[in-house]
This record gives sequence, C-alpha cells and structure tokens, in this order.
Amino acid sequence: MSNYHIKSLEEYFKIYRKSIREPELFWEEVAEEHFAWRKRWNKVLEWDFSKPEIKWFEGAKLNITENCIDRHLLGKGEKTAILFEPNDPKEEAQHITYNSLHKRVNQFANVLKENGVKKGDRVCIYLPMIPELAISILACARIGAIHSVVFAGFSATALATRINDCDCKMVITSDGSYRGAKTIDLKGIVDEALKECEGVETVLVAKRINSSINMKEGRDKWLQPLLDKASTACEPEIMDAEDPLFILYTSGSTGKPKGMVHSTAGYMVYTAYTFKNVFQYRDGDIYWCTADIGWITGHSYIVYGPLANGATTVMFEGVPNYPDFSRFWEIVEKHKVTQFYTAPTAIRSLAKESLSYLEKHDLSSLKVLGSVGEPINEEAWHWYNDNVGKNQSPIVDTWWQTETGGIMISPIPYVTPTIPTFATMPMPGVQPALMNENGEELQGNLVEGRLCIKFPWPGIARTIWGNHQRYKETYFSAYDNKYFTGDGARRDAVGYYRITGRVDDVIIVSGHNLGTAPIEDAINEHPAVAESAIVGCPHDIKGNALYGFVTLKETGESRMQVNLRKEINQIITEHIGPIAKLDTIQFTPGLPKTRSGKIMRRILRKIACGDTSNLGDISTLQDPEVVQQIIEGRAALE
Ligand code: WTA
Repeated sequence: MSNYHIKSLEEYFKIYRKSIREPELFWEEVAEEHFAWRKRWNKVLEWDFSKPEIKWFEGAKLNITENCIDRHLLGKGEKTAILFEPNDPKEEAQHITYNSLHKRVNQFANVLKENGVKKGDRVCIYLPMIPELAISILACARIGAIHSVVFAGFSATALATRINDCDCKMVITSDGSYRGAKTIDLKGIVDEALKECEGVETVLVAKRINSSINMKEGRDKWLQPLLDKASTACEPEIMDAEDPLFILYTSGSTGKPKGMVHSTAGYMVYTAYTFKNVFQYRDGDIYWCTADIGWITGHSYIVYGPLANGATTVMFEGVPNYPDFSRFWEIVEKHKVTQFYTAPTAIRSLAKESLSYLEKHDLSSLKVLGSVGEPINEEAWHWYNDNVGKNQSPIVDTWWQTETGGIMISPIPYVTPTIPTFATMPMPGVQPALMNENGEELQGNLVEGRLCIKFPWPGIARTIWGNHQRYKETYFSAYDNKYFTGDGARRDAVGYYRITGRVDDVIIVSGHNLGTAPIEDAINEHPAVAESAIVGCPHDIKGNALYGFVTLKETGESRMQVNLRKEINQIITEHIGPIAKLDTIQFTPGLPKTRSGKIMRRILRKIACGDTSNLGDISTLQDPEVVQQIIEGRAALE
C-alpha cells in the first residue's frame, strides 16, 4: 500500500488513521517517495498555533520547478504539460510539452534576472489565461522571486493596492485580453494603477490582442524580443523549505485584502498529494480545471499540483458561453478531457440553457467531475451528475480555501461514496473540528457548528504579508489552538461533512469571495452617500446576489436615483472590479443599528431576501421605526 495513492475505502481509512496518529511520519514518507530534494529536512514539523508559527520540512532545500518540470524530462519530455485552448475556437490549441515548458520557463527566468529581479523580490503578474501566465509564475519560482498574481478582472485601484501592499518591483502584463467577444485593455488598467505605485521599475508586456498601447520609455518592455534573446538554460535557485513561494490576495470581511503567503515545500507536497488523490490522475489523462489562475484554484490545481505529478493540464482562455453555451463540452470532446473541475456557478449557468448544447458532444472520456468555490446546491449537483457525468463519473465536491493552499475535505472518486451537497471526508492529515458558540468542540455525529482545523497540514498559509498580527487575529484567535475557517459545517450520521457557508461578512458571488466592508467603503466615497450596508441574497446562478442599502446625505440637491445607482456601481467597478457590482440598490432614510451603533445585518439580510416573517427582537434598536420604512422601501422597489 502506498501512502501516496489511495485506491480503496479501506486504504483511505488506514492511511487517514496513520496520518492522524503519526502525522510527521506520514508526511515524511510522502515527501521522501515522491519529490526531488537538494537536501533533506532536519525536522518534519514544528508548530505552535498560539504564535502562530508553522514550519514543515525545515532545513530541506529544493526548487519547486525542478519538481514540476526538470524531473519529468527524462521519461515525459515530449508529453504535453500545458494544453492551451484559446478564446477563439478557430485559433489552434497549443500543446506545450515538458521539454518546451522547461525551455520557455528558463528563458523567462533569465529575462527576469536581466531585468533586476532577485530571489525574494516580489513580482506582480496581471495577465489573462495565456501560456505566459503559467510560464511567468514558474519563472519566478525558478529564481526564487515571490509571485503575486492579481486576477485580470480587478480594477486599477484594486491592482495598485495589491502592488503596493507587497512592494512589487515588476509587473508582468499583456497589451490586452480576450474575453468571449470582448477585448479588455489590460495595459491601460496597469498604466492607471501605476500612477499610484512608485516602486515598480519595469513592466513586461506580452502581446496578445495586437492593440496599439502606450509604452512608457524606460519602464515598459515588450516581452517577446527579450525572450527570443534569452538563454534556454537557467539553473534553479535552491530554496529553503519555508521560503515564500507566492502571495495571493483574498478578501477579508474587513479592511484591505489579505496577502496570504504560501511556503515552498509544504505547499508543493500538499497540492501534489491532493491532486493525485482527489482527481485519481493516471498517466495519459487530460485534466481540465476551468478556474482562472488568478485564484488559488488555478495556482494549486492548474499549475503546481498537476505539474508536480507530470500531468497534462488544460488552460482555457475563454468563457463558457462563447461562441455559445456548448464551448465547455466542445473542449471536453476535442481534447478527450478525463477530469473536469469547475464551480457551481458555472454549472448553474449552463444548466439553465438547453440540453442540446451538451447532447451534441461526446463526453464519454470523462471519469471524474469536480466542484469548488461554494456549496453546490442539490439541483446543480444532479444536473451535473446526470447530464455531464451520465451517472458514471463521481462528483468530488472539494472544500478548501486560499488560506489552506489545497483541498481539505473531499470525496476521493471511486473510493468515497458520494452524497449530493456533502464534501464528505477529510483528506489524510486534515483534522476538522466543529465548535459551538461557547468555544467547545462538538463531539460525535449529527452536530453543526463552526469549522476549525486542529492540527497543521503542509499547505497552510504561513502568514499575511506584512501583518502577522492580523493573521493571528483572523485565523487563530476565535478558538484556542485551532485554525478557524470562517465557515459553518454539519457532520451527519456517518461522519460526512456538509459545508453550510460563511459565518462572517464574506459573501461568495459567482464563486468569488467578496468582503462587505471593502464594497461599503467604495460606495461611501460617493459624495452623495452617507452610509451603506451590503448583504447577500440567494441567486439562481451566482449563488448570492449583492443587495445594498444606501442612505444619502441631506444636501438639498436632488439627484435622479437612477443616475445615482449607476454612479454607485461605477465607483464599485473602479475600486474593486465589475464582479462586486450590486444587483439591487435600495435607498433608505436610515439603517437599523444597535444602541452601540452596530448595523444589524441580520435584519437587513432578511428584508432584502423578502423574509420579514421573523425579524427577531427589534425593540433594542436605536430607531426601531426604520425597519418598517425599509420593508416598505423594498416593496416599492418591486
Ligand atoms: C467556500 C476557493 C462549500 C467556503 C478554493 C470557503 C466552499 C471559501 C467549497 C474559500 C465547497 C469553497 N463547498 N463551500 N466545496 N469550496 N467554498 O479562498 O466558504 O476563493 O471558505 O478558495 O469558499 O474561497 P477561496
């Protein structure tokens, strides 16, 4: 029996028990058997959640790109590593072999070096889903620079905040991007952002849409000519196990985005291990994750996890509805995709279209279907299972977070019996705990509480960039000696987990985490706005829709509410990005507040979602009458 590849339920239980009883021995065996190390570790694990401090494989030396590329060259050099499928189906797909990936990453790494990037420097990557995105990530890792990928749907302000937070000295971008029938002027957004970023010395620009753009003398350089001149050989920088590999920003319920810092060795071992098991990847499989690499799902399960296993990973530039709603299925058929990993919001948007989009394609290559990003509702689960999987491909409902680095709770296909909407059982090495309101751990089955993890796993983020105190407060202060996830969960009669959703002020819209506070801060910048509160309401496709309650300043100036609504969404688009636009804006004379001035979101959420039957005790509010006014205002909107 190998620890690395779980093949039966009996093995799962055995391996899981071992991983809990002897976690260090367990992870040591995995690390020893399946990775290339320049030097072995002195100690497998050192941890103290009260500080918090977590170190895996301390003393070990390695380079993650040797593990993701070099060591596959001998046996799999001509195998496709990255299969790039462009936005336009008429443009040819690119098969980038491991040999070619090796050369291209080395060339890119040399360009980074020639442009002054050194080990430990931060590089911001703001690119669409084109091969340069994966290659630039790996090039940073090759030379020990810390990459900070910013999703190319974020606005200039959001980009600037992220560049400045971790002092990036370089930005890698493209002239523009394709998104279905649209093009987006990425370089224009970068130019706008860089007005606020003094530390950026160089901007490397990939050519994708051949638009005419502004190139700032001395700062901006076209990428391709530099690559063409660069050597295809680049010795990997030898890194310490705990050296940071990357920073990835995630929204919190308050304050600015948190730059989660992931380490090198632990992250590599954990993403590779979970990829192998959750997708039961076997040689020859064509694995496709539809996420954008700008999110953690893309980092861990398009780039690092698959490549560490020598897999073929599909990278898709486009969107599910271009040229029409059959695009995903056309790609599955064309490349004979075996594992397909997507988000519930995508499933729901495809499920509302005619089945004919799907039926005209041969999906028989599929063996495993995955879901990630938010709870998958029962209807979407069945549609996915019946129509895409034809009842033959198990669905892995994978629960995890940017902070966890890799999948934490998930079925293992063909091993764990699945139940719709249940993420089922923890991965080896993961020790979940459900907590009640008094901070006690709930024992036994048939309980519901807040989900914590009580022992470290190798993929856990080690800190928040520049703010360790916030890391401690956010994740390790709610419960003693436990990592708090921010999610609620239920354990059923057999011990399966079902994630019930966020218990904080983070709202997941189309699979994107949005903190309410940053959106409210943006709205409050509008000169006519006094105050605002955002809540989430269930939405058929997006999972949640954003509903904003806004109070206006009494300026005497009368403005058209229609215009105001547009302006408010415009401000949100500028500060965060179009993903955070509000679906509904209700102007209200006041907001319900406690005597201490705290906005009662619970009440607002119920009103927004049209459920006013039981608002609870409102008599303790500063101004109970405002509740009735808000209810009437909501009715008037319809
Ligand atoms: C939610 C995405 C239910 C959850 C990898 C978590 C899920 C947040 C699931 C993290 C799932 C993710 N079932 N909820 N299978 N997967 N979530 O950081 O609330 O973008 O805390 O990482 O998404 O989102 P993030």
